[in-house]
Parts: sequence; structure tokens; C-alpha cells
Amino acid sequence: MPILFSMLAPHVPSICHEENAPSFQQEMVEDMKKTANKIKSLKPDVIVLVSCHWPSTFFHYVDATPEHKGVLTAFECPDLIKDVPYFWPGDADLAAQLVAAGEQSGIKAVSVNDPYYVWDYGSVVPLRYLVPDEDIPVINLSVTLAASLQETYEWGKTIKKVLDESPKNIVFVSSGALSHNLVRGRENKPTFSEHALDKEFLQFIANKDYDSAYNMLPQYARLAGVESGGRHLAMLLGMIDQNDEATIGAAGQSSGSWNAVITFEQKQAI
Ligand SMILES: [Fe+2]
Repeated sequence: MPILFSMLAPHVPSICHEENAPSFQQEMVEDMKKTANKIKSLKPDVIVLVSCHWPSTFFHYVDATPEHKGVLTAFECPDLIKDVPYFWPGDADLAAQLVAAGEQSGIKAVSVNDPYYVWDYGSVVPLRYLVPDEDIPVINLSVTLAASLQETYEWGKTIKKVLDESPKNIVFVSSGALSHNLVRGRENKPTFSEHALDKEFLQFIANKDYDSAYNMLPQYARLAGVESGGRHLAMLLGMIDQNDEATIGAAGQSSGSWNAVITFEQKQAI
């Protein structure tokens, strides 16, 4: 089945617990909750999620663990994200298909099946909003630092082919920020120059000029410090069909980064 729905999701640590979210991130929180209702109505069989906070060095990891169960305290901010329990089902069969497709395409995809592997907050934070009942299986993916944007885009295309050919209904989530040259002070926005690039990227998306959005990534990522070097955006753009309609949702700053909820769906699927 063609991918039902794709999205860019923020994971700023201050929204992990809704009651701690500052006022300038409340719109993102509300939009994530609204998107959760949309996802629930679509009744997906699986959510495939790539997280900027699972940075692998060489290999494209695919989490094939049948059950993702743990308690997360985030390395980077154990004060904000501490002892957060999570328990989502996995999908070992579909994860194995993704790894096999990567291998067949010459992409260094590697399966992970480890009940002791603790998820990162880039996976946990958006899923707490998007699938609050923890009732949809999840396959999460790393961003691979040794992979170029182009290789990551090709990996995204390879994943998309498997997902499109699967009989399952699938939602794809890219968890990460846009501009991401971090500074102290959660209220700080990106610089004017960084944010000009955010706006240009978002305009390309709004205009359905997905090729230009992809083509601007190398310099955008370098100049604005896009999270994970823009790899999560490259993978997301690899999932998008030209007839997918984008909706630019709520956005906000977090310590010099810019974060946005963007959803994509085929209009005929509505
Ligand atoms: Fe992040």
C-alpha cells in the first residue's frame, strides 16, 4: 500500500512532558495532538520513524526488536527527560524486509534486535504525542553519519519501495529540527540568515517543489546547522510522492533551533 501519511515531527526535549512546554512551543504540542487524531483515524499497521538522536557511525540500523520496552533518561538532558517509561510493539517481519532491501541495493543496512537497547528521545518524545496509546507497532531507524545526504535519500527511496509494496498501512515519521545551531536559552530563535533558509525550505515544500527542497539541503545543512546534517529531511523527501500535498503546521524555536510540524498525504487517500 502506498504510504498513508508522512510527517516531520519536532522532538524538543522541553515538550517531553506537556506541562513543561514553554508558551512558544504550545502550538507545536497542540498540532502534534491533532496529528495524533489523524493518525488514529488512518488506523496504520506500522509507524516507521527515523530519529536524529540515533546517530549511527557507519551502518543504517533498523530496529527489528519485537517489543520496544524501556525507561528513558536522556544523556543530553537528564533533568528534562528522566525515567520516562515506554512500551510500543515492533514489527520484526517488516524490519527484516527493509534490511534485505537495503542489502540488495548495496546499502549498509543492519538489523538490531536487542530488548536491552534503550530508545533515544528523538523516538520517544514525538511518539508520546503521536501514538499516546502505544498501540501501533514501530520500526525506528538511525541516521548514519558516514552516509551522505544522497545515500540517505537513496536509502529513503529503498525503504519507500518496500513500504509501498507492503500490504500494510504505514505512516512515516521523520523526527528532527530544521535550523539547529544551538545556543543557551530555550527562547532563542535561529539567526535571521539561518531562518531565511528555513523559510526558503518551507516555501519549496509548500509549493510542492520537493526537488528544490532536496537540492538546497547540502548548503542549508551546512549554513544553518540543520539537525543530523539534514539526513532526516533527505530521508523524508525520499518518501514523498509528487502528488503528496504538504501542510505546514505549527513551528517554534528551541535554543536557537527551528522546529516544525509538516504533514504529507495523497489527496485521493482522504
Ligand atoms: Fe534533536
